[in-house]
Amino acid sequence: MGSLSLFPPQASTTAGEVDALYMFVITISVIMTVLIFFCVFYFAVKYRRRSPDERPKPIHGSVPLEIAWSVIPFGIMLVMFAWGTELYYKNYTPPANTLDVFVTGKQWMWKVQYPDGQREINELHVPTGRPVKLTLASEDAIHSFYVPAFRIKHDVVPGQYETLWFQATTPGRYHIFCAEYCGTGHAAMGGWVTVMDPAAYETWLAGGGSGASMKDQGEKLFTQYGCVTCHLMDTKGRCPSLRNVFGKPVQLDDGRVVTADESYVRESILNPNAKIVAGYKRDVMPVFQGQISEESLLQLIVYIKSLSNAEAPQTAAAAGNTAAKGSTK
Ligand code: CUA
Repeated sequence: MGSLSLFPPQASTTAGEVDALYMFVITISVIMTVLIFFCVFYFAVKYRRRSPDERPKPIHGSVPLEIAWSVIPFGIMLVMFAWGTELYYKNYTPPANTLDVFVTGKQWMWKVQYPDGQREINELHVPTGRPVKLTLASEDAIHSFYVPAFRIKHDVVPGQYETLWFQATTPGRYHIFCAEYCGTGHAAMGGWVTVMDPAAYETWLAGGGSGASMKDQGEKLFTQYGCVTCHLMDTKGRCPSLRNVFGKPVQLDDGRVVTADESYVRESILNPNAKIVAGYKRDVMPVFQGQISEESLLQLIVYIKSLSNAEAPQTAAAAGNTAAKGSTK
């Protein structure tokens, strides 16, 4: 890129706020450092010993001074803490109605899936002006998804889902990095986010969608793995029906109540005995650990999610759909 810049460009809605906090912390640190070094040198000169038998006057301390240099830094630290906490919650709590994209980290690449069926490797396309939620999974080691221009970074840990959101502001191409050492190819594990204005994004979406949607692929897997034989009966079968389950509380046989979110569905596929729904038996469903790739799991989850959204009342289809989506967060 020719010129050397100290900061990456600001290309998300929160980038400016992150930088403001960062500049505040840096400024305070510089002021304190300069002040301390100035005092060290000034007092070293001012109070140097002038003759071998010189004895300084005893000092008995100063309570107001002690209070001042304790309370003022404490106040400044609290400002940093409160500001940082507020920004953290804002940056790591996805809003409702996001555009969902699924990212799988794998030694050594980022595999991206869109609900409509597009797939990319080390490329992510997003529109400006809409919050985008990434669901992050890892196929192997711990990775970390990092887009400096958006000021977002999140570890991608095998065995669980992580979410990350942003809203891009400026069309352009921005670096994706892996920010967690994950083996030989770690340094090469990167890519590009392409931010497009909404019209260009629609064109891009329409152009690339030759494959089946994630939901359709998930439905195919649901049949292929035989899930459909037990799980789709609406009457009481050997396994719980999956209609209208996603995003809802589930009563377990040990008395706990859990929410049927992405991680719950994932665990129930890979290790069905981990949580048994009240009224059902153990060891009925085969264990799929090691049988299904992370990408296929995400497709199954999108499909299972759709079994809940599809049941929204027809009369308020649009509103019901939005509410159902909101409640799955
Ligand atoms: Cu993946 Cu470092």
